[in-house]
Amino acid sequence: MKRIGILTGGGDSPGLNAAIRGATLAAIRKHGTEVIGLIDGFNALFEDTGRPGVGTDSGLGSPALVRLGEAEVQDIHAFGGTILGTANKGDPFQMILRDEKGKPLRDADGKVLTRDRSGEAAQRIKELGLDALICIGGDGTLSLARSMFERHGVPVVGVPKTIDFDLAATEATFGFKTAVQVASDALDRLRTTADSHDRVLILEVMGRYAGWIALHAGIAGGAHAILLPEKPYDPKAVWKRITTRFRRQRKFSLVVISEGARPIDGAIAVAELREHPAAHVVLGGAGTRLRAEIEGLYAAEAEAVIAAGGYPPDAPEVRVVVLGHIQRGGTPLAEDRIVATACGAFAVDLAASGRFGTMAAWVADGPAEVPLEAALAPHFVDPETTPLVRTARALGISFGDQREADDDQ
Ligand code: F6P
Repeated sequence: MKRIGILTGGGDSPGLNAAIRGATLAAIRKHGTEVIGLIDGFNALFEDTGRPGVGTDSGLGSPALVRLGEAEVQDIHAFGGTILGTANKGDPFQMILRDEKGKPLRDADGKVLTRDRSGEAAQRIKELGLDALICIGGDGTLSLARSMFERHGVPVVGVPKTIDFDLAATEATFGFKTAVQVASDALDRLRTTADSHDRVLILEVMGRYAGWIALHAGIAGGAHAILLPEKPYDPKAVWKRITTRFRRQRKFSLVVISEGARPIDGAIAVAELREHPAAHVVLGGAGTRLRAEIEGLYAAEAEAVIAAGGYPPDAPEVRVVVLGHIQRGGTPLAEDRIVATACGAFAVDLAASGRFGTMAAWVADGPAEVPLEAALAPHFVDPETTPLVRTARALGISFGDQREADDDQ
């Protein structure tokens, strides 16, 4: 194996640089292989935009294809982000068609036009003499890698990164633990201020259609309700949890809601549609919607009390905190660095043994080979069988599906 390429794709995740370093050092020191870094994922195969200070000239005729040596990856394991840059619009199967000025071309309905350039990408990889392409990514990037392998025979090996933990066949995806820690820290901080002001604080966390971050952070941070994408919630059940606590003189509540959670009669909250057909919609607004639902339920109850000639309790003060990209940025936890480093290095071993179309997963405390296809199987919280859901229920944490009072904490 003379030369390999490394790319990072999709949303960034703490540990990406550790994975780049792990793969690069293993390639150079163990396999005597030259390493080329692709800037901004698969886009490097079509564009020639580099990143200042990253890598050295590879002699391959494009600033988007840089040589990574030991010096280039020195000390990067502790940094968040990715030195190589990443793109969630870098899909060789759907490249945007542009006019000579670079403006995207559109059809009569205004939809951006794309073209399948995956064949060109495969040809370019061959011409560049890349004996393997290490694709560090989540479900989007690894799906592209699998398609490049299956349709064009590109020698790919995947490495599992995602804060969402929505890849299968691996016990860890690096970035997840760091995101959970950030969300759990946020809950610790929210708890004291919520308590001081008798407020209901809703923390909206990332995770897309998977509730792993909400579930883990909710338990670690002592949330009173956890709302998951996998379990549509009944706002009345959440309200019940809050009022039960209130009656017991616990006048504050912490609710963790996944950005992909939805009420039983509602859809997922979308903040923004994206133009690029390969890009995901931007989720957002789940927390704000829950606030309105809680306030609406209070108002209905207050009205009934007034109609009966009574005086209702004060309205709850509900506030929403959207944690957003804070979960993705910054220093990776040691555990994420370890998984990233080991899986990065092992991906190069897999490449050296010709084990393409695979992913370097994390299994039983070490890196292991799994087929990419297995990694891309669904991996979501099962509200009935996931052990941590049971743990949470045992503690009285509401998942928004029980209207009766839970035991208090
Ligand atoms: O997949 C990782 C993730 O952070 C999701 O949790 C989130 O929905 C999405 O990416 C946000 O992506 P972007 O930064 O492109 O808006």
